[in-house]
Amino acid sequence: MTWVEPSSTATALLLLGRGADPASERGVDCPGDLPEPSDPDLVARATAAKAALGDRVFVLGHHYQRDEVIQFADVTGDSFKLAREAAARPEAEYIVFCGVHFMAESADILTGDAQRVVLPDLAAGCSMADMAVLAQVEEAWDTLVDLGVADRTVPVTYMNSSADIKGFVGRNKGVVCTSSNAERALRWAFERGEKVLFLPDQHLGRNTAVLQMGMTLDDCVLYNPHKPNGGLTVEQLRNAKMILWRGHCSVHGRFTLDCVTEVRDRIPGVNVLVHPECRHEVVTAADYVGSTEYIIKTLDAAPAGSSWAIGTELNLVRRLADAHPDKQITFLDRTVCYCSTMNRIDLPHLVWALEELVAGRVVNQITVDERTAYHARAALDQMLALP
Ligand code: 13P
Ligand code: SF4
Repeated sequence: MTWVEPSSTATALLLLGRGADPASERGVDCPGDLPEPSDPDLVARATAAKAALGDRVFVLGHHYQRDEVIQFADVTGDSFKLAREAAARPEAEYIVFCGVHFMAESADILTGDAQRVVLPDLAAGCSMADMAVLAQVEEAWDTLVDLGVADRTVPVTYMNSSADIKGFVGRNKGVVCTSSNAERALRWAFERGEKVLFLPDQHLGRNTAVLQMGMTLDDCVLYNPHKPNGGLTVEQLRNAKMILWRGHCSVHGRFTLDCVTEVRDRIPGVNVLVHPECRHEVVTAADYVGSTEYIIKTLDAAPAGSSWAIGTELNLVRRLADAHPDKQITFLDRTVCYCSTMNRIDLPHLVWALEELVAGRVVNQITVDERTAYHARAALDQMLALP
């Protein structure tokens, strides 16, 4: 396994096409007329609206977005790159974020007061981010305070968390990380404390601690927010180096060790490349692991004729297969697996959001209150300043 250092909303369901996203349901969040998906003029309308807005709008697209949306992105990237790009566009009046809610919140925090961030469909959330609620995290922290270990604990939150969790982490002198800099964030944290409270993705936390930082599985404990003391003994909480929040991604959680074994049997010589949100046994059995940006770069650099099984979201895997006809690229699971909330952003929503901006109306604006933004920004800036 090679791990190269690369780098309230709806719940994510697994199997999703347009069928699970009926027009009546989509219309709920959107004042005004949402174009029909069958409208043959959608591409022309999006092109015209973007041209009318010119430099006033900047469209960011996460790698998991649909093709129909990604074609209109001014820049595409993983969550780290998109956060940096959002922060680097002070001239854009509107940032249209084709991604999910926590990404748009981070963009709002990192952009200027006069800039407005728009999420074309407010139902584009992240089930993992929803697994850590501020009140639960504060309760967990109080437990650590009572045990006398909070002052030796540094909170680290994955980008996939709400702004108020990032605010909590900023208030308590911690840092945000993404899948492309989790190791650097953990090294930074362990220079400042003896323990880390890692939120909310247990898998990214465990995979980084064990496979990149040389810790053992015994150094990690799993904190269940639905149980007193996280379901852990005082001894376990005192001894652990990594206190992992019990959150996970439902999309990456679908990949199992059986998927890896099956694809290796089916395609001799296949390279297995997965996202670090996958379970520990899957990441351990894989050949390569990294963020979405890393996955793309790895495929770009791969020799013609090589075979790859990719364990991440399907829009990205399909796009990679189309972009590399000289390589054999397959999806790691035999079952179709989109991120349903990423998929909420479709062309009708994008056209609607852009045309409303042309008409002078800002729809689906994402705003983070000043106090939360102040503290969350400290944790995000700390991430952007990591060596
Ligand atoms: P990346 O930062 O690798 O783009 O991951 C974001 C995400 O949500 C993966 O599920
Ligand atoms: Fe959240 Fe998983 Fe979707 Fe990423 S793939 S946005 S972690 S539900």
